[in-house]
Amino acid sequence: MERFQKFILLPFILAASLTGLGFCYSILNGPTNATVLAGSEARFNCTVENGWAILIWLLNTNPVLTVINSQGPIETSERFTSHSYNNSQSFTSELIIHNTQLNDSGKIECSIQKLDGSSFAFLSVQVNGSLLIKNSTLIVKENTTVEIVCEALGWAPAPDIMWMTNDSLIDKSRYVTQQSQGSNDLHNALSVLTMTPTNTEILTCLADIEALPNPQNASIAVIVGNSTLGK
Ligand SMILES: *[C@@H]1O[C@H](CO)[C@@H](O)[C@H](O)[C@H]1NC(C)=O
Ligand SMILES: *[C@@H]1O[C@H](CO)[C@@H](O)[C@H](O)[C@H]1NC(C)=O
Ligand SMILES: *[C@@H]1O[C@H](CO)[C@@H](O)[C@H](O)[C@H]1NC(C)=O
Ligand SMILES: *[C@@H]1O[C@H](CO)[C@@H](O)[C@H](O)[C@H]1NC(C)=O
Ligand SMILES: *[C@@H]1O[C@H](CO)[C@@H](O)[C@H](O)[C@H]1NC(C)=O
Ligand SMILES: *[C@@H]1O[C@H](CO)[C@@H](O)[C@H](O)[C@H]1NC(C)=O
Ligand SMILES: *[C@@H]1O[C@H](CO)[C@@H](O)[C@H](O)[C@H]1NC(C)=O
Ligand SMILES: *[C@@H]1O[C@H](CO)[C@@H](O)[C@H](O)[C@H]1NC(C)=O
Ligand SMILES: *[C@@H]1O[C@H](CO)[C@@H](O)[C@H](O)[C@H]1NC(C)=O
Ligand SMILES: *[C@@H]1O[C@H](CO)[C@@H](O)[C@H](O)[C@H]1NC(C)=O
Repeated sequence: MERFQKFILLPFILAASLTGLGFCYSILNGPTNATVLAGSEARFNCTVENGWAILIWLLNTNPVLTVINSQGPIETSERFTSHSYNNSQSFTSELIIHNTQLNDSGKIECSIQKLDGSSFAFLSVQVNGSLLIKNSTLIVKENTTVEIVCEALGWAPAPDIMWMTNDSLIDKSRYVTQQSQGSNDLHNALSVLTMTPTNTEILTCLADIEALPNPQNASIAVIVGNSTLGK
């Protein structure tokens, strides 16, 4: 029993005397990369060993929130708030960035104001733009090749475009997608599908970015009409 207690006590005494020196604490877990949709919130954690004095959050090198051990968090903007999780071994500060904007993208850093006492990650703020197929329901003659156009406007970054017919993906060789720069750092994409429908099909254009839980989509019906139709 006595031996067991020594085992427990030794590291404790060591830790206590070292933190007593006032510099032997470090960041145990820094923030991790996050990808969010503009307008939503982004959260980052920074966990420091006990003995810490100050913790500073920086976004693209600008200080946005400071936590002082003896006082708690000092918040100066409604956009940057925090939660504190304190326990006997460590302290975790969770930074919450509200109403994220595209230009919040970049480096998020947790500093404990000492040499090597810094850890960082990246925030990517993305924009869910619009998506539409420029053609409405099409009635085509048998054996005719048509071009169907899907347009994505105002995205960040430019979305990946895919096409589906009914429930299956269409091979990439059957469409061409071009990306272009829009206004305000947003991106557009225009995808042209070339097809010769043989049957009635529901065509779906899908646009995806990492921050979306599911791709956005737009659909039209292509109806193969009788040869007497359309001419
Ligand atoms: C975090 O994001 C940066 C920049 O996009 C990237 O270089 C890095 O590999 C990412 N780290 C992890 C762990 O995914
Ligand atoms: C931060 O840590 C707290 C406490 O462990 C946890 O509840 C929260 O989900 C974490 N937040 C992030 C962004 O990982
Ligand atoms: C965390 O807890 C310790 C001791 O329990 C206390 O001294 C310290 O002020 C607390 N820090 C914060 C930021 O709440
Ligand atoms: C970021 O963008 C917002 C609006 O989109 C703007 O109000 C703000 O001034 C910009 N911030 C910086 C640092 O450019
Ligand atoms: C993305 O935008 C579309 C079209 O405005 C909307 O229907 C969809 O709900 C949005 N997705 C998210 C996750 O906000
Ligand atoms: C679909 O719309 C695009 C753009 O408006 C047009 O160029 C194309 O000819 C249309 N396709 C058909 C089959 O009508
Ligand atoms: C469509 O093509 C097939 C095979 O080439 C042919 O058998 C059929 O007669 C064609 N139909 C029309 C309406 O041209
Ligand atoms: C696609 O779906 C439509 C409507 O549900 C159906 O009439 C058609 O036969 C289907 N086409 C194929 C190729 O499966
Ligand atoms: C298209 O989006 C709607 C609404 O988000 C979803 O219910 C549907 O499953 C999507 N369709 C495809 C083919 O992904
Ligand atoms: C087209 O219409 C003719 C009569 O108008 C009919 O005999 C033929 O079966 C129809 N073909 C298809 C593919 O619907």
